[in-house]
Amino acid sequence: MNILRINTTTLVIASAGVVLLTACGHARHPSNQARAASAPPRMSTLKAAAAPHQILISTAVNPAHLDEPEYAKVLATEFAGVEPENAMKFGPVHPRPNTDQHPYDFAPAERLISFAEEHGMKVRGHTLVWHRQNPEWVTQSNFDPMQLNSILEDHIRTVVTHFGTRVFAYDVVNEAFNDDGTLRDTIWYNQPGIGYAGQGTKYIEQAFQWAHAANPQAKLFYNDYGAEPINKKSNAIYAMARDFKARGVPISGIGLQMHITLNADTPENLQSLEANMKRIADLGLEIHITELDIRLHSDDAASLAAQAKLYGEVVAACVHQPACKMIQTWGITDKYSWIPETFAGYGWALPWDRDYQKKPAFGAMLNALQ
Ligand code: XIL
Repeated sequence: MNILRINTTTLVIASAGVVLLTACGHARHPSNQARAASAPPRMSTLKAAAAPHQILISTAVNPAHLDEPEYAKVLATEFAGVEPENAMKFGPVHPRPNTDQHPYDFAPAERLISFAEEHGMKVRGHTLVWHRQNPEWVTQSNFDPMQLNSILEDHIRTVVTHFGTRVFAYDVVNEAFNDDGTLRDTIWYNQPGIGYAGQGTKYIEQAFQWAHAANPQAKLFYNDYGAEPINKKSNAIYAMARDFKARGVPISGIGLQMHITLNADTPENLQSLEANMKRIADLGLEIHITELDIRLHSDDAASLAAQAKLYGEVVAACVHQPACKMIQTWGITDKYSWIPETFAGYGWALPWDRDYQKKPAFGAMLNALQ
């Protein structure tokens, strides 16, 4: 039985394309007869199961892996969206200064976009402003704030204009806050910054304005990690988002990265996640779960089962919140996950194993979407 979260007054029961609309006020309590008549078939892919909820299932992709048939097959079968894991970041996409004949390297991202278009998938852009993966020509040249301001404006305009409507949403600014809710010291904020050092979220606002000017249709997100439940960091992000909405700064939503461990699986934490999503939704903003992975110390059966349970709970939290429009995993297979090289002693974070076998996490995600 699928009660879909289309709106509060209309119950839509999707069953093999059949849509039933209830005529009376018992929208969320259909009769047993209606339930029996409309029992939907179980969907077998993540994207099909998510579509009736208006949730896009997406994943981070390294375009180089598209040559691997199994990788491409799982990607095209299970996912409705892609995001380049690295290919649109400042360093990879803009490795040389504008004085060079070829300042930009759009080819890897283009390749991924072409794959997505061939398979009817959406493309999410990541990321325009970040303190990591910036090219040496930016970080090693001792530019002053005026120079950095025009470098960043030019970069955002060029990238967003280049991809145009082929990219439907961007992480405009990534990871700008510390865990205690203060702003992170970065080249773009205050080291030396683009001219707004010490002025709080003004540099973030400026980046959103530049991105919006380049493509008014693109959905613009602020994205961060460790800000999934209510805590100092998510409070700071919420305060910024509320301020942006109040003053008409073009922000569409908040990205919750969701690089988590099994420690996240407590009732308090999951309730806090739902409460954080709700307050974001109440601002009229969307929520994208942008980089979901759940790292483990072992791939024994108990760990994989615990991981599956938490994957299911995260997916369920998104299903429960109508403003949650995307669930994106940070990769497909454990073979290419960033986790082992980043978190010593951890691995096995994704829904497919190294041999492209579905792990229990896959089944739990699918179940949570049925
Ligand atoms: C990671 C990539 O997965 C790695 O390949 C790269 O070496 C470093 O960046 N938060 C983000 C992502 O916003 O861009 C990061 O991706 C993971 C953490």
